[in-house]
Amino acid sequence: MHKSDIPKTYRVKSFGCQMNVYDGERMAELLEAKGITPAPEGEAADLVVLNTCHIREKATEKVYSDIGRLVKSGAEAGKEPMIAVAGCVAQAEGEEIMKRAPAVGMVVGPQAYHRLPAMLDRAVKGERSTDTDMPEDAKFAALPRRRKVAPTAFLTVQEGCDKFCTYCVVPYTRGAEISRPFKELVDEAARLVDAGAREITLLGQNVNAWSGENDLGHAVGLDGLIRSLAALPGLQRIRYTTSHPNDMSDGLIAAHGEVEKLMPYLHLPVQSGSDRVLKAMNRSHTAGSYLKLLDRFRKVRPDIALSGDFIVGFPGETEAEFEDTLRLVEQVRYAHAFSFKYSPRPGTPAAGMNHQVAKEVMDDRLQRLQAALGRDQLAFNEASVGKTCEVLVERKGKLPGQWLGKSPWLQSVFFEGDAEIGDTVRVELAQAGPNSLKGRVLERVAA
Ligand code: SAH
Ligand code: SF4
Ligand code: F3S
Repeated sequence: MHKSDIPKTYRVKSFGCQMNVYDGERMAELLEAKGITPAPEGEAADLVVLNTCHIREKATEKVYSDIGRLVKSGAEAGKEPMIAVAGCVAQAEGEEIMKRAPAVGMVVGPQAYHRLPAMLDRAVKGERSTDTDMPEDAKFAALPRRRKVAPTAFLTVQEGCDKFCTYCVVPYTRGAEISRPFKELVDEAARLVDAGAREITLLGQNVNAWSGENDLGHAVGLDGLIRSLAALPGLQRIRYTTSHPNDMSDGLIAAHGEVEKLMPYLHLPVQSGSDRVLKAMNRSHTAGSYLKLLDRFRKVRPDIALSGDFIVGFPGETEAEFEDTLRLVEQVRYAHAFSFKYSPRPGTPAAGMNHQVAKEVMDDRLQRLQAALGRDQLAFNEASVGKTCEVLVERKGKLPGQWLGKSPWLQSVFFEGDAEIGDTVRVELAQAGPNSLKGRVLERVAA
């Protein structure tokens, strides 16, 4: 890396979870505060931030090949792009990235990216820097204020994870659980609403472990925060993700029956339907306790859409244990789900376990699981046909005059008619596919 001019344009490429998307947005704001503007679509940027994810296979290799591609296309255009690697691979690999990729000028971890502008000042002088510190909580205070935002916004309320599931890198890349302070969050949410947000999704690796002290000095959990945010005029919808079955409180379950702005949707990863596998994963819940928990949600909010995460082929998983997962799916009837083949992550306990499952076996199990989940997702969408619901308009559809928004159950709904981005319209759901529905507009509810 050489000395260079101050970059004029930037591009942030975020991979992985929604918290990375949130971080990517905040990094973009930091760069814009320095007068750097987003690179126009299709044009090479002077500065590229690769905001990486380390959760599954080949994450690291992918970063190096992305870097290689950037260097090559830069050389073709006759310039050397400035490259920063951020996110969970940056945290896990640190200095190693500097050694392997001379084109990279900055390596910055997820808890240190508020220092990116200072690192950039050094990079302009030709000095490379790595920052993978985890200074507690400092990041959020140092971030600039939000400007214009989309109708749906993310708000990170909790970070890190203390659960140490035996397959997972997150506790290592994101550090220990911390909750952002109540007041800071209410203020940030109010600013998001002022900037145009109509829906806020509260984010955390274990978002339901959030705790804090409200404005009256009372200890509150996530439900307390949700109730306070629901009082913000202009905010129409609240969601939260991702929850852990063991941190679910009575208050949060009750909130689903009481807080109108809290959407009827719950993403609650289970990973497996086998108690032996769950134990080996260090999940600290059983299939039975998980199902009981879901029943309690359904009791207060019978129409709640359920979503989950699954891993097939955890070390030692037998065919019978996998079938326990299929049975659990059969019982829950998820509206939506994510499923993955187990991927050994360096440094995690499961990576060293005996009886790693063969790739072909995993492929077969994933296919069978996804067939079952796909069947249920379609059935859920089909069961919505004929219902009337509110849709928050997020963007234009591909066809002329078409709009795309989300139902309360987080389904994508296409419709034609008179609307603007950010409107809430009442729609009759008319036709269902596996991934979306078509609706007919009845009226505009709010703009
Ligand atoms: N904190 C959240 C999200 C963790 S990462 C949670 O606990 O649910 C999102 C999902 O990735 C996990 O739920 C899990 O299903 C999957 N995952 C994590 N590590 C994995 C691994 N090593 N191999 C395959 N899938 C993994
Ligand atoms: Fe990973 Fe488990 Fe923590 Fe989720 S709860 S982030 S899967 S260690
Ligand atoms: Fe990936 Fe890190 Fe999120 S590993 S899933 S970007 S917490």
